[in-house]
Amino acid sequence: MSRDAQKKLAAEKALEFVEEGSVVGVGTGSTVAFFIDGLARMKGRIEGAVSSSEQSTRQLQQHGIPVFDLNAVGPLKLYVDGADECDPWNRLIKGGGAALTREKIIAAASDKFVCIIDAAKQVELLGQFPLPVEVVPMARSLVARRIVEMDGQPVWREGVVTDNGNWILDVHHWRIQDPVSLEAKLNQITGVVACGLFAARPADVVIIGDTIRAIRG
Ligand code: A5P
Repeated sequence: MSRDAQKKLAAEKALEFVEEGSVVGVGTGSTVAFFIDGLARMKGRIEGAVSSSEQSTRQLQQHGIPVFDLNAVGPLKLYVDGADECDPWNRLIKGGGAALTREKIIAAASDKFVCIIDAAKQVELLGQFPLPVEVVPMARSLVARRIVEMDGQPVWREGVVTDNGNWILDVHHWRIQDPVSLEAKLNQITGVVACGLFAARPADVVIIGDTIRAIRG
């Protein structure tokens, strides 16, 4: 089955987690695009969405789904998003689409995080996909030097400006043995806005194609 077909199946399965009358947290990317198309079919039965990017906001609004500010709606029951890599404990690398900070905020504000992926995103050890780190622009070199000291190889994603007005460093060649501790260390570097490791708050449910993996590990 093609990767797109698997993404679509996962997105359709995730619709089963959407509760009537709720506000749904919505991520970013090609897998989520299928989810938003599915959500449009039930738009009369949900109140609306909180979106993690301008890209998803546009798609939601094109479907006539109301988009709310997170501050206006408080905690969410459900957040649905894709990922770039997923380990057996539902810990993720995200941010290939540069939306990691808003994605992390919505994940933190949600009771349940359902991650939708195709099988190629499954890994034993995170880090083959370059780890995105969002930085305040003036801190780019400073953060890059700190990451080199941690044996990472940061590459500036030149030309990309996040929805928050910041820049992205993609860190290559890290085999991430302890994602929870690396996430904490990166968060402590001055100038880092967020890193693409979702380990302290992993996904609660991972859907791979049409298969649900709810238990971590
Ligand atoms: C966006 O910043 C990312 O975190 C996406 O969730 C991730 O890149 C998955 O994207 P695809 O669904 O397009 O593979």
